[in-house]
Amino acid sequence: MAVLMDGRTLAHKITDGMRHEVDASGLRPGLAVILVGENPASAVYVRMKEKACEKLGFFSSGFRLPADVSEAELTTLILRLNNDPDIHGILLQLPIPGHLDEKKMLSLISPDKDVDGFHPVNVGKLMVGDECFVPCTPRGIMALVDAYNVELEGKRVVVIGRSNIVGKPIAMLMLHRHATVTICHSRTVDLAGLCREADVLIAAVGRPYFVDETFVKPGATVVDVGVNRVDDVETASQLFGLESPKLQKIRDKGYVLCGDVNFEEVESKAALLTPVPRGVGPLTIAMLMQNTFDSAKRFAEKG
Ligand code: GUN
Repeated sequence: MAVLMDGRTLAHKITDGMRHEVDASGLRPGLAVILVGENPASAVYVRMKEKACEKLGFFSSGFRLPADVSEAELTTLILRLNNDPDIHGILLQLPIPGHLDEKKMLSLISPDKDVDGFHPVNVGKLMVGDECFVPCTPRGIMALVDAYNVELEGKRVVVIGRSNIVGKPIAMLMLHRHATVTICHSRTVDLAGLCREADVLIAAVGRPYFVDETFVKPGATVVDVGVNRVDDVETASQLFGLESPKLQKIRDKGYVLCGDVNFEEVESKAALLTPVPRGVGPLTIAMLMQNTFDSAKRFAEKG
């Protein structure tokens, strides 16, 4: 049976350590979070980010804009926040509505306040190995595998998913740690066979229970980045089986969260596995706080 990588406990440890550092620094890191529209999952994430700020004594400024906000209005807000001395980090929650140009909007955020690491300047710096804001989920995954002493140098890392938020940056971080990295996606031929070569398998596809035991080499480390909402009992019974307690959860709560990895199958084959929830998720938020604090320190040094 796999050892479960406890992201929640590690995230608490990181934020507890940070709290002391923040208090000792006398700084008040400030994070602005912009949410456009009513995506319920995004609203939950934004609330969690604001709560994390409260707990650490950060200044947090939330902007909830209507789904039909114009590019001009969003531009004005971002430029104002770029010049606000109380704000050290700016986060535009993705996805944003289709009429807004996502790349253009992300490029407006000052690279010095880009705590998500999505600005092209930070993306480029990550690629060439310069100091930069590292996207929060990939940074969290690195913290987790390091906490469990997972060997990376010379190992085969396979990433399923090529998003700018997770797949591409985690591949780059793993490469910097001397792993041999393969990025797979929906058009990869013999996906399961390729994944079976992985010493470390990272699933970031956004499809519930997609990675089954045929994807996993015995003794591998499996990191599940997926957070999928399943709200239909019929789909759930196919994915999880008729006996699964998850079916009752859907009846009680209306939905259940699950990862990209078929947990029950993979648990008996992997050596290390992240659960969902309480795996990678809590670290994403801890790393957002860390990036914001790092930014505040950098601004203070510059004076
Ligand atoms: N949407 C899903 N993940 C993220 C993230 O890490 N940052 C932002 N801004 N939006 C997201």
